[in-house]
Parts: sequence; structure tokens; C-alpha cells
Amino acid sequence: MPLRSARTRGVPRDAVHHPLFARCYARISVGAETRMGMARVRERLLTGLSGRVIEVGAGNGLNFSHYPGTVSEVVAIEPERVLRTLAVDAAQHARVPVDVAPGAAEALPVKSEAFDAAVVSLVLCSVRDVPRALAELRRVLRPGGRCGSSSTAGAAGGR
Ligand SMILES: C[S@@+](CC[C@H](N)C(=O)[O-])C[C@H]1O[C@@H](n2cnc3c(N)ncnc32)[C@H](O)[C@@H]1O
Repeated sequence: MPLRSARTRGVPRDAVHHPLFARCYARISVGAETRMGMARVRERLLTGLSGRVIEVGAGNGLNFSHYPGTVSEVVAIEPERVLRTLAVDAAQHARVPVDVAPGAAEALPVKSEAFDAAVVSLVLCSVRDVPRALAELRRVLRPGGRCGSSSTAGAAGGR
């Protein structure tokens, strides 16, 4: 009789499964906060945000400590299991409430028009279907909500 795979036993597959990248990123990104000035980039990206924020592709949660007190809640979506576990730890040290959940940018597991701002930092270059991810960001932002995105430098624009 053939062995049943983990998937057929009902264990859900992660939308993103890159354990090696995740471990490398977790190490390198922490050093980059000071060495490459990433902490300042994060600070600039998140300054001025308020209300309910969705962060997509939160990684190991390095943005969490930079959210200003004007933010009432962050819902942080991270598809990669290793990074998500680290993000849960980081959430415990944030000064604003952060709820970490699995999910992918192309199908955000949240209601429409539920957020005042969306944050995607260093994420869009790894997303497979960028037009779909952007449509999802638009769906979950309330009219007039802000979307902050960074690649190597911060930039922000309205919905
Ligand atoms: C370079 S890391 C950036 C992490 C974090 N945003 C930061 O600023 O440090 C890229 C992140 O995008 C996530 N990612 C990759 N594909 C994704 C997708 N389709 N939807 C959401 N996140 C995704 C990865 O798991 C990883 O956490």
C-alpha cells in the first residue's frame, strides 16, 4: 500500500515555501538594519501612518517596532512559515498591537475596505502575480487609504 503524503493527510501547503531563503534573510536583514541604514528606511516609510494597517509579506517583522503610536492595529500577512514564526516573536515587542497571519498578496485573507493603510516593503519583487497583488491592495484599502511601498528606498502614495 503506498504511503500517503503530508498533503493528502490534510496538512496545508504554504503559499511560499523557501526555508533556506527565510533563514538567510532572517540573519542578513537584522545586520542590515544598522549597517545598511534599513532601520531609517523603515522609519521613513511608516511615519505618518494611522488607524488600521495591513502589512503584506511582513517577513521576520522588522517593521513592527517602527510603527508610530497613531497606528491602532497591524494585520501582518506572511506566507513563509519560518519567517512567520519569527514575525510572531517580533510582534510581542511592538508598541502597537500586531496580529500575524498566513496568506499571500494575491489573495489577502481579509475583508474589503477594512484598512486605512497598506505596507509592502521589499516584497513586490518576490510576488508572482503583481497586478493581482495590487488589485488586492486596492480592494482591502478604504477609499483614500494610503499604500506605502519600498524596494531599496521608501516611497508612499495614495490609493
Ligand atoms: C525580502 S523579504 C521582505 C520582508 C519584510 N517585508 C521586510 O521589509 O523586511 C520578502 C518577503 O515577501 C514574502 N513574499 C514572497 N511572496 C509573497 C507573496 N506572494 N505574498 C506575500 N508575501 C510574499 C516573503 O515570504 C518575504 O517575507
